[in-house]
Amino acid sequence: MNINQQAQKLLELVNKKNQEKHSKFISIASGKGGVGKTNFAVNLSYILANKFEKKVLLIDADMGMADVHVILNLKPQNNLKALLSGKKPQDIVVNTKGFDVLPGFSGIDTLDDLEDFMMMKIINDLTDFSKDYDFVIIDTAAGIDNKVISFIRASSRSFVITTPEPPAMMDAYALMKSIYKIYNYTNFKLVINMCKNKNEALFTYDRLNNSFRRFVNKNIEMAGWIPYSQTLNRAIKSKKLISEVFPSDDFTRAVTAIASKEVGEEYEFDGDGNFWKKLMSFLKKE
Ligand SMILES: Nc1ncnc2c1ncn2[C@@H]1O[C@H](COP(=O)(O)OP(=O)(O)OP(=O)(O)O)[C@@H](O)[C@H]1O
Ligand SMILES: [Mg+2]
Repeated sequence: MNINQQAQKLLELVNKKNQEKHSKFISIASGKGGVGKTNFAVNLSYILANKFEKKVLLIDADMGMADVHVILNLKPQNNLKALLSGKKPQDIVVNTKGFDVLPGFSGIDTLDDLEDFMMMKIINDLTDFSKDYDFVIIDTAAGIDNKVISFIRASSRSFVITTPEPPAMMDAYALMKSIYKIYNYTNFKLVINMCKNKNEALFTYDRLNNSFRRFVNKNIEMAGWIPYSQTLNRAIKSKKLISEVFPSDDFTRAVTAIASKEVGEEYEFDGDGNFWKKLMSFLKKE
């Protein structure tokens, strides 16, 4: 069997699989780097699992600079790359602080260099593995790389993180605009991070929403805002997870408020069960 036939086979296999339980797939994205995606993704996972008793899988899909395990102070034996050499997700998953993590990998093998066939193999393995989770949170790389766009398009929700700084706002807008323009995808929710206060957050949201509405004729929802937190930086330095050790810090409370909305909200399930199928088909077309 040549590689194209094998790829076709994998595609058919994933298409046959059913996500029986409807997991909610949330990708965490941003235009600009360093705006707080990974810290948000990790703490959101912790809070969904521990405060709301959900079964959560966090996937580190930032394969250029994977650092979910760094924030969680884990030293994983394996990572997603091991799926390519025959390991199973069960062999690489790490259970920590009440939720499961699939660690990513960094270095020269960025996601871009991964052949579509290899991505398909990873997707095939994860289709079965992820189906029992209530939430699958996907931490992505900054920017509008094709693979990141595929993760976003396949997700039923994409949290776009920005700070109130104009470059971060412009890049968040550019990310949403280009994905809408090419693919008509609008399931974005904005998270305004590192704010001085609520007014600054609302001002940032209004500006972005107005620009988006002028272009798309639709509002983007605000998932919530998160204050700038010195405590977060202290927690990171002492290798602790802020939401675990400082449950009443404003950062933790802000992420809890965002998590509570997701728990309460019913998604349209049309697409949700099909996350991996969609991801597979988006990759195939590129
Ligand atoms: N609310 C906040 N208050 C203060 N500092 C923050 C806040 N959120 C994130 N940071 C800091 O910003 C830096 C970047 O955070 P993080 O790594 O989560 O961003 P990222 O968007 O995942 O970056 P990358 O694009 O490189 O993946 C970290 O030093 C983190 O401590
Ligand atoms: Mg990150």
